[in-house]
Amino acid sequence: MNILILGSGGREHSLAWAVMQNPKCDRLIVAPGNAGIAQIAECAALDIENGGAVVSFAEENAIDFVIVGPEAPLAAGVADRLREAGVLVFGPSAAAARLEASKSFTKEICDASGAPTAAYARFTEAEPAKDYIRAQGAPIVVKADGLAAGKGVIVAMDAQTALDAIDDMFGGAFGGAGAEVVIEEFMEGEEASLFVLCDGEDILSIGTAQDHKRVGEGDTGLNTGGMGAYSPAPVLSAEIEALAMDQIVRPTVAEMKRRGTPFQGVLYAGLMIRDGQPRLVEYNVRFGDPECQVLMMRLGAQAMDLMHAAAEGRLGETRVNWADDHALTVVMAAKGYPGPYEKGSVIEGLEGLAEDSRNMVFHAGTKAADGKIQATGGRVLNVTARGDTLQDARDRAYAAVEAVDWPGGFYRRDIGWRAL
Ligand code: AMP
Ligand code: GLY
Repeated sequence: MNILILGSGGREHSLAWAVMQNPKCDRLIVAPGNAGIAQIAECAALDIENGGAVVSFAEENAIDFVIVGPEAPLAAGVADRLREAGVLVFGPSAAAARLEASKSFTKEICDASGAPTAAYARFTEAEPAKDYIRAQGAPIVVKADGLAAGKGVIVAMDAQTALDAIDDMFGGAFGGAGAEVVIEEFMEGEEASLFVLCDGEDILSIGTAQDHKRVGEGDTGLNTGGMGAYSPAPVLSAEIEALAMDQIVRPTVAEMKRRGTPFQGVLYAGLMIRDGQPRLVEYNVRFGDPECQVLMMRLGAQAMDLMHAAAEGRLGETRVNWADDHALTVVMAAKGYPGPYEKGSVIEGLEGLAEDSRNMVFHAGTKAADGKIQATGGRVLNVTARGDTLQDARDRAYAAVEAVDWPGGFYRRDIGWRAL
């Protein structure tokens, strides 16, 4: 098969790494890719949010299967354009991608399917929203309805913070994403993520993970896209995972089908777990980054067969061959991230690192220039390892991190602490 992966981050590097190990892959192109991906696959410049351009590219290159990495092309309808053109694609339609692109839509689906989640109200004007906050009191959570690059959620521990968030959102701080606001009950508990392949009808869990969103050790400081992750998530025991599948994911997929907008792709359920009961925090309609890196490290080549089966509506006949293993990834970021950071610093020491079934450095924001690897993004490398225990995976990952010579970067030293 000729395969095209859309995206350019560590998530897409790990998808490419898994796909390349599968003997059914004849040719792999990643668009636009990055310097790490270029070491294992072809990279091509392409506007991945332009459905017409992606279809033309797929036809010109005789692509048999497209895997969409990030949410933006999905929300823009790129998977719809590919399907209309008869190209097999892993990823939901724009209508089904609303599970990530609209928080109020997700709440509506939870209402219709009875999935446990935080109580909420939705508003399109500031004053009623503020009255609601004053009546409910803090802590309370204010969310911009639309896609806001991970910044549209304010967990307010006092009412004033929530009222200010309302002014920001209706004042246009998140553009169109903030034209509608969802206000939610604050849920306590431990967060974990469940990744479920869906073919519109059948569902298949492909693993659990936890990430570290805060920039600082001990989970302190500013929010980021994720500074590290590990899989499996011990808090998501088999019993709780089964509850999440039965009470949350399966009813959601059934409701999407009933509405004529079946969900096909990976549903990433962010869960809050308390007293043995999972509740939905949010859905994403794609793999997490860096959660994908630890999932791919554990699944290896079979990940491609599973995604292919989801795209072809054959999930009912598949299963996951699990090893009793653990994976952990440490994000190395440019100093300053998630605030302003410098681009172009040189990273050395990568050549000597093992890259095999237990160790892999996935590139998130790099480019090759003058024969060297340079940092071009905030999150730059995902140093990932697999082991028989979480401690083993963690020790291997940190040994590799320490071998990377990058004065312009930093990383958290405590990834996995909650689970160890
Ligand atoms: P989201 O973008 O929906 O994942 O929200 C970002 C983060 O905000 C989540 O990962 C949670 O840590 C937190 N969060 C969102 N909604 C709630 C809620 N209702 N209660 C507590 N924390 C929440
Ligand atoms: N790591 C969180 C996300 O991908 O949304």
